[in-house]
Amino acid sequence: MTDYSQQLEQTAKAMVAQSKGILAIDESFPTIEKRFKSIGIESTEENRRAYRDLLITNPGSAEYISGMILFDETIRQATSDGIPFSKALIDQGIMPGIKVDQGAKDLAGHLGEKVTEGLDGLRERLAEYRDLGAKFAKWRAVITIGKGIPTNGCIHANAHALARYAALCQEAGIVPMVEPETLMDADNNIDTCYDVTEKTLNSLFSELENQGVTIEHTILKVNMVISGKLCPEQAGVDEVAEKTVKCLKATVPSSLPGIVFLSGGQSAELATAHLNAMNAANPDLPWPLSFSYGRALQEPCLKAWEGKTENVGAAQKALLHREKCNSLACNGKYTDDMENDA
Ligand code: 13P
Repeated sequence: MTDYSQQLEQTAKAMVAQSKGILAIDESFPTIEKRFKSIGIESTEENRRAYRDLLITNPGSAEYISGMILFDETIRQATSDGIPFSKALIDQGIMPGIKVDQGAKDLAGHLGEKVTEGLDGLRERLAEYRDLGAKFAKWRAVITIGKGIPTNGCIHANAHALARYAALCQEAGIVPMVEPETLMDADNNIDTCYDVTEKTLNSLFSELENQGVTIEHTILKVNMVISGKLCPEQAGVDEVAEKTVKCLKATVPSSLPGIVFLSGGQSAELATAHLNAMNAANPDLPWPLSFSYGRALQEPCLKAWEGKTENVGAAQKALLHREKCNSLACNGKYTDDMENDA
């Protein structure tokens, strides 16, 4: 078997190096349709390609972005000049990543809970993605907070699947970005989010160990510890920062090369402010804390684009602004007034 250790180590380090983060553009067909609907455009293959083209070829992004997570369709598409997207990224010094899970499905016997599918045939799919240029891969597990949930059964099933996928990735020379996402849509308070996130991360790292996954070659993508969207009491920026860091310190091995956050429905500015507060107050953490946002990076860009060629420049400018603000937040150097330079 090929020994990919060195390559895995380099990739994992590079993903979170020099205040850089990841741009997630791996929306599945139903999700991109929902995003396009918000600006009144149809989700055709060409519209999806044109949109991803502007995200991928944005001049200047490489200063702030180390990698982009692509969807299966996207890694097979090309720029308007005919350059395959993965090559267009590599030419800029940005690593192509790929979403390899096949979505969260209802977990049998567990009303209201999901388990992520996609392990069958994954070894073969990973080999193909590696040939297509992928350096890292993402698998998202969804943990829902509600009455009597999450159950141990759901947390364990998802942690087990994440560990099986991570082991297959490392065997293929691809860095696993393991993503257990505790959703922030319910009415729970921040402390419930803390407890569920802590339990989920403990289960994940125990399963990763059981499956022989090398922690030094793994990146964690996780939710912040935050109040549910419907909770009447919303925790402030400093409380979110403090509780998120406390939870990570209690659960994540210090040998992990880096942690990146998803935005999960936070506004673009708030996602940046939270990341900034964590890094400003904690300059000596064992791992870099960075970003791997989808919506919080793309939303202003998508709005500026409106599906029109003449708006591509404005859309790219809006994206670059968010990329820069989040890169500064990796060092605790972001300030609110930067939003006025947009
Ligand atoms: P959001 O930042 O929009 O939550 O998406 C990140 C992501 O890739 C979820 O898997």
